[in-house]
Amino acid sequence: MLVLGIESSCDETGLALYDTERGLLAHALYSQVAMHAEYGGVVPELASRDHIRRAIPLLEQVFAESGIAHDAIDAIAYTQGPGLAGALLVGASVACGLGLALDKPVLGIHHLEGHLLSPLLASEPPEFPFIALLVSGGHTQLMRVDGVGQYTMLGETLDDAAGEAFDKSAKLLGLGYPGGPAISRMAQFGDPTAYKLPRPMLHSKNLDFSFSGLKTAVLTVVKNQTTNICEQDKANIARAFVDAIVEVLTAKCVTALKHTGLKRLVIAGGVGANQQLRESLNAAAVKKHFKVFYPELEFCTDNGAMIAFAGAMRLQINPDAAKKDYAFNVKPRWPLDSISTI
Ligand code: KG4
Ligand code: ZN
Repeated sequence: MLVLGIESSCDETGLALYDTERGLLAHALYSQVAMHAEYGGVVPELASRDHIRRAIPLLEQVFAESGIAHDAIDAIAYTQGPGLAGALLVGASVACGLGLALDKPVLGIHHLEGHLLSPLLASEPPEFPFIALLVSGGHTQLMRVDGVGQYTMLGETLDDAAGEAFDKSAKLLGLGYPGGPAISRMAQFGDPTAYKLPRPMLHSKNLDFSFSGLKTAVLTVVKNQTTNICEQDKANIARAFVDAIVEVLTAKCVTALKHTGLKRLVIAGGVGANQQLRESLNAAAVKKHFKVFYPELEFCTDNGAMIAFAGAMRLQINPDAAKKDYAFNVKPRWPLDSISTI
């Protein structure tokens, strides 16, 4: 089965062709990061307009690279939500327009399901069941995953998402957008003993997270500087921030594994690209005897491959999941556990 995947939920336009027999045949991505950096964050209207500009050339690129004819595809999977409404509408309209023109069925995919299943695209994929930590710009969730479409929420953030905390703290330090990679790079040069920031909810009995207090703590440290904040101080604060967030994320993953008795942990979403988080989880895995799986770096952040793959996985279970119904709608807010029954 050959599925075309289209991702346009935020600031990346991603297209991909995934075949259940031959694997990933082609994928193409355009990141709008440089355009939004000027404004310090994603500007929704600019994002939608740029998706319109990029979607068709990227679509043609994946067909050309794979040498596949347009009408050889079996279905089109597109990100239906959650995300920015205008941005989602671009992907949905391209998917449905193409579906109508080619007489192919379409299938709306949950963006986080794409992230969740993205480690299965790696050369050594995890087996079900596993615990998944979804850490992106909009979400921080711990899920138990028993199979495709079988997701149980174990805990989530009560306020800011992990990626959001990275981005906001980086902004406070004047490190630009997107903040995650910038603050992570800066932290490498920081003194770990210079500042100590709070570990929100580290000792709470549940698996929920809260990161807005951590961001406020960064704000307080920045405000308390009597002179202009120097580069070394920025690095020290970045280090304290990264140490705090990584410790909380690692501890909650270990608790989730302990509570469920599972031995496999999957990390998905943009923050999963973070080097310090990976080092901390790898160390915990050795100490606590579990295995940790990451998506390929290029599939950590938003991409079309994970959407094509999630579509193909769903269609393998239920071939009728894709429909020749082109009256599309999008779901900017869409809880992941609501899609748990196939
Ligand atoms: O999954 P993603 O591409 O988009 C969403 O669905 O939100 O995640 C983007 C988030 C941003 O907040 C970005 O700052 C963060 O992932 N991020 C990182 C790193 N790379 C991306 N955070 C920490 N360290 C990184 N290396
Ligand atoms: Zn994402």
